[in-house]
Amino acid sequence: MNTMLMNNINWVGYVDWNVRDFHGYSTDRGATYNAYLVQDEKTALIDSVKAPYVDNLLKNIRSHTDLDKVDYIVVNHAEPDHGGGLSKTVEALPNAVVVCDQKCKDIISGHHDTTGWNFHIVKTGDELSLGKRTLQFIETPMVHWPDSMFTYIPEEKLLFSMDAFGQHYATSARFDDEVSLSTTLEEAKKYYANIVMPFGKMVSKVLDAASGLDIDMIAPSHGVIWRTHLPEILSRYAEWAECKARPKVVIMYDTMWQATEKIAMAMTEGASIEGVETILLNVRASSLTVVATEVLDAAVVAIGTSNLNQNMLPMMAAVLTYLKGLKPVGKSGMAFGSYGWGKGGCEQVDQWINDMKWDTVHEMFKCKFTPDAAVLSEAEKIGKILAEKAGEIAQ
Ligand code: FEO
Repeated sequence: MNTMLMNNINWVGYVDWNVRDFHGYSTDRGATYNAYLVQDEKTALIDSVKAPYVDNLLKNIRSHTDLDKVDYIVVNHAEPDHGGGLSKTVEALPNAVVVCDQKCKDIISGHHDTTGWNFHIVKTGDELSLGKRTLQFIETPMVHWPDSMFTYIPEEKLLFSMDAFGQHYATSARFDDEVSLSTTLEEAKKYYANIVMPFGKMVSKVLDAASGLDIDMIAPSHGVIWRTHLPEILSRYAEWAECKARPKVVIMYDTMWQATEKIAMAMTEGASIEGVETILLNVRASSLTVVATEVLDAAVVAIGTSNLNQNMLPMMAAVLTYLKGLKPVGKSGMAFGSYGWGKGGCEQVDQWINDMKWDTVHEMFKCKFTPDAAVLSEAEKIGKILAEKAGEIAQ
């Protein structure tokens, strides 16, 4: 495996081929926890790995230098997939000073007994000379934790971007030009939708800050390193930061006895017009991860549920709770579904759409018991309206 980013700068992280659940995020292609070793007159470890894999990290460091030769551990982000192994890492690197911002130190101190640790606290604009190379620090709060920070080496035009621009993607390749670009962008989109989406405004600010840097390489904390396709990932981030809508309709539903499903399918039939992508998702057959990823760039989202004990179905409630936290903005929505003698499910979805401050693209569409041919015909017409609206929004 080629681990060399450039002369004396190496990847020393861990490829987690088998992880499939990353705090609820479905990591179908596994993950990596990237750490980097910068060797100069001084040696800096940039980030660490998840706790179970510290021995792998140390072995990788040893293949380049002795552990007591590491002078700094730069912690760009304290979340346990990077900072969880810090206690063991600090213990194994006896001469290393922990470099991070104040918020990161506070979080680290909440997770570890830091008695005896040497900290060097930095803020935006601070620099640390390693010899021929310099580490410059740029705080990026809420992209995606309060502690988040970039580290930049101006002499190499190299940006260590922590979670930003990352992908949960286990591969033996380390660079974007060694794997399929469409796969990498698909995983980057999934990562953005499920981890970064709530912080779009902060992402825009970070992109503005990054535009002032001369960057040849972006080394994130997950997935492959961007050295060839930087324009592609930067332009995607600019679009995702504003949840930019494509001509796309997502019709998602849960169903008890297939009545709501029949309506959803009729709507999908009607929405399948030229120039508009229409996605049908049964939320009990789709992960939360996939649902969020599809919603990110949709113009219109139709949400269907049957009624159960005067509530929406529980899996749809889980989906809407998850999406509420991710805060996709600028969508147009509608509620639909079947009910029997009670009501409440569809009304809850309608209220959720209001609470999300989405436009209502069509009034709630409800059907008592099983839809007949007339109801399905109406659902198909509504689907066409949704698709036409999606086309207009995305103009
Ligand atoms: Fe990869 Fe926010 O941790």
